[in-house]
Amino acid sequence: MKSFAALSAILALAFTTNYQVSAFPAYASLAGLSEPELAAIIPTLHRREPQPLPLPQNDTSTKLVNDAAHPWMPLRQGDIRGPCPGLNTLASHGYLPRNGVASPNQIINAVQEGFNMEYNTAVFVTYAAHLVDGNLITDRLSIGGKTPLTGPDPAAPASVAGLSTHQVFEGDSSITRADAFFGNNHSFNETLFQQFVDFSNRFGGGKYNLTVAGELRYQRIQESIATNPNFTFISPRFFTAYAESTFPVNFFVDGRKNGTEEAGQLDMDAARSFFETSKFPEDFFRPAGPTGPKGINEVFKAHPVQPGKNMGTVNSYTVDPTSADLTKFCLLYENFVNQTIARLYPSPKGALRQALNVALEHMYKGMADPECTQLFPYGQD
Ligand code: HEM
Ligand SMILES: *[C@@H]1O[C@H](CO)[C@@H](O)[C@H](O)[C@H]1NC(C)=O
Ligand SMILES: *[C@@H]1O[C@H](CO)[C@@H](O)[C@H](O)[C@H]1NC(C)=O
Ligand SMILES: *[C@@H]1O[C@H](CO)[C@@H](O)[C@H](O)[C@H]1NC(C)=O
Ligand SMILES: *[C@@H]1O[C@H](CO)[C@@H](O)[C@H](O)[C@H]1NC(C)=O
Ligand SMILES: *[C@@H]1O[C@H](CO)[C@@H](O)[C@H](O)[C@H]1NC(C)=O
Ligand SMILES: *[C@@H]1O[C@H](CO)[C@@H](O)[C@H](O)[C@H]1NC(C)=O
Ligand SMILES: *[C@@H]1O[C@H](CO)[C@@H](O)[C@H](O)[C@H]1NC(C)=O
Repeated sequence: MKSFAALSAILALAFTTNYQVSAFPAYASLAGLSEPELAAIIPTLHRREPQPLPLPQNDTSTKLVNDAAHPWMPLRQGDIRGPCPGLNTLASHGYLPRNGVASPNQIINAVQEGFNMEYNTAVFVTYAAHLVDGNLITDRLSIGGKTPLTGPDPAAPASVAGLSTHQVFEGDSSITRADAFFGNNHSFNETLFQQFVDFSNRFGGGKYNLTVAGELRYQRIQESIATNPNFTFISPRFFTAYAESTFPVNFFVDGRKNGTEEAGQLDMDAARSFFETSKFPEDFFRPAGPTGPKGINEVFKAHPVQPGKNMGTVNSYTVDPTSADLTKFCLLYENFVNQTIARLYPSPKGALRQALNVALEHMYKGMADPECTQLFPYGQD
């Protein structure tokens, strides 16, 4: 909430000092803005009709993805990268726009093409992220924040972020990124990577696998409890933290290893390549079939922790019984829609409301769980 207050202050200043409202970037989220701010900004944006979902890709075989058509390129001034090594890599190889700003459908296509992410998982995660971090009017989402790694972007107002926005999707106790409390929540952190290597040596014979994932996930939670008074680990972060611990095993291991004893064992050179430099290893083949958070329950069961948070001091972790856990997937969806989205968009109107409804519909479809009742916080039409 702090960043929304800061943004409001900056916008108020901008209006009274004749700054161009049209400088509001097409990729900046409208979430949390007041009605006067929305009324001033939306007419300056280039609106893009909400898009229907892309079709699932039919070819889900393994194949070379670090190919001649998708060379890795270093960042240019202004290119944006963020907390997700998967999306960073897709942008640095041109599967996503290299500037790091994409439409949700481009992301859904790219994660299937480049990493063989399973279609429904891709749809659900992408539209959940777009709802809280994207711009619903321009149909654009930044895969990072306001600050490109290569230097400040003069077009981006302070506090406006995409996927790096803390607390809605990005969260605490990441495996290679520090908690936002310590100042930088999205950049590769060498100290944390050295711990990743150390745990891989101790529990994986030098490789990162699901056994390592279970130990390291627990270690990162314990570190946040002991050092971050603002640590929070409730849904949706509770889910994404466990899911993302499996992703290096499921997505970063060469697909040709499937069925061999090297399946599910990630070597440290490949890990560093993805996490630090957003680069596919030489000659990399994507996974051998459609892939999601396989192994999430094993990671959780290694050291079960219930959702909760520190209460403003270190070592004050308190379980929050209202948060969804891994056994309550429909509650994840309900809390996300009823609380998170409703807080960010209390009373949307016109094109914004229409776009929210389309994105909510897509997210629900991606969940592909008929047991969860569909919610319509902004009516049904
Ligand atoms: C489908 C669209 C995707 C979206 C919107 C997305 C978004 C995110 C976000 C916001 C985070 C930061 C969470 C945090 O640690 O605080 C994250 C982390 C992560 N993502 Fe993605 N992601 C997507 C797909 C992928 C794919 C396809 C992969 C693997 C190829 C991947 C791998 C990871 C990993 C390993 C992390 C954890 C990083 C760490 O803890 O250090 N993601 N993702
Ligand atoms: C997948 O195959 C179906 C049936 O042949 C086809 O209708 C659909 O367009 C294909 N999807 C894509 C993304 O090409
Ligand atoms: C990296 O993470 C560690 C542990 O959370 C933290 O102490 C350190 O300040 C971080 N380094 C940078 C450069 O952010
Ligand atoms: C996350 O990082 C971005 C970029 O450094 C920063 O603007 C944002 O304020 C951070 N979030 C929090 C809550 O610290
Ligand atoms: C920690 O939480 C407190 C209370 O919510 C807030 O005022 C403060 O800004 C937060 N600190 C950081 C660095 O996020
Ligand atoms: C991880 O590697 C270690 C060491 O080789 C092994 O004992 C363990 O069974 C592996 N775990 C998985 C899930 O592959
Ligand atoms: C890999 O091979 C195993 C059998 O060893 C199979 O069960 C699995 O579905 C295959 N595909 C992927 C993407 O792991
Ligand atoms: C979400 O809102 C719907 C409709 O208002 C309500 O039926 C449901 O109980 C709410 N769920 C939660 C978890 O708040």
